[in-house]
Amino acid sequence: MYDGDIASVLITEQEISDKVTELAKQVADDHPEGDSDLVLITVLKGAVMFMADLARALPVPVQLEFMAVSSYGSSTSSSGVVRILKDLDRDIADRRVVIVEDIIDSGLTLSWLLKNLQSRRPRSLEVCTLLRKPDAVKVEVPVKYVGFDIPNEFVVGYGLDYAERYRDLPYIGTLDPKVYSS
Ligand code: PRP
Ligand code: MN
Ligand code: MG
Repeated sequence: MYDGDIASVLITEQEISDKVTELAKQVADDHPEGDSDLVLITVLKGAVMFMADLARALPVPVQLEFMAVSSYGSSTSSSGVVRILKDLDRDIADRRVVIVEDIIDSGLTLSWLLKNLQSRRPRSLEVCTLLRKPDAVKVEVPVKYVGFDIPNEFVVGYGLDYAERYRDLPYIGTLDPKVYSS
């Protein structure tokens, strides 16, 4: 599949699986089964694989919510100004919420989302991301659960895309530069 497009495997399927188990344990320790279910919020589409695996690894009941957003402006890097294309189906007031992200790159998407969701008065609001890039630490985004800190390379797979491709790879790999230079 995708012959020659992947330069190297950065994180294997097994390493992802082990990390998901570890993160699920951390989240569950902080959010024991209570009077209301934990709400996992995912922003489409990158984090869907991670959310699906995390939800099944969590030993506590969770409810799943999805948002779709679009960044304003034409630049390829996100501007941080976001338009909601699909909002949550349910109110999160007084609910315990964990945002599930695949990757934090500049952190701009997330910093907007945190402000937006915080204004809806959840009981608690945390972030769980599988991957984080070094630039993310430059923007003040409080992230409680981080799977892997990775170098500043373009990565795809396990939900992460380049031009909507490669999301279906079961591992995370670096993309051969020939793919985006051609
Ligand atoms: C990617 C990724 C994160 C976001 C991180 O989503 O899935 O959601 O960018 O970038 P940032 O930290 O610089 O804001 P993208 O906008 O590519 O949409 P997608 O999830 O549908 O691929
Ligand atoms: Mn995304
Ligand atoms: Mg993308």
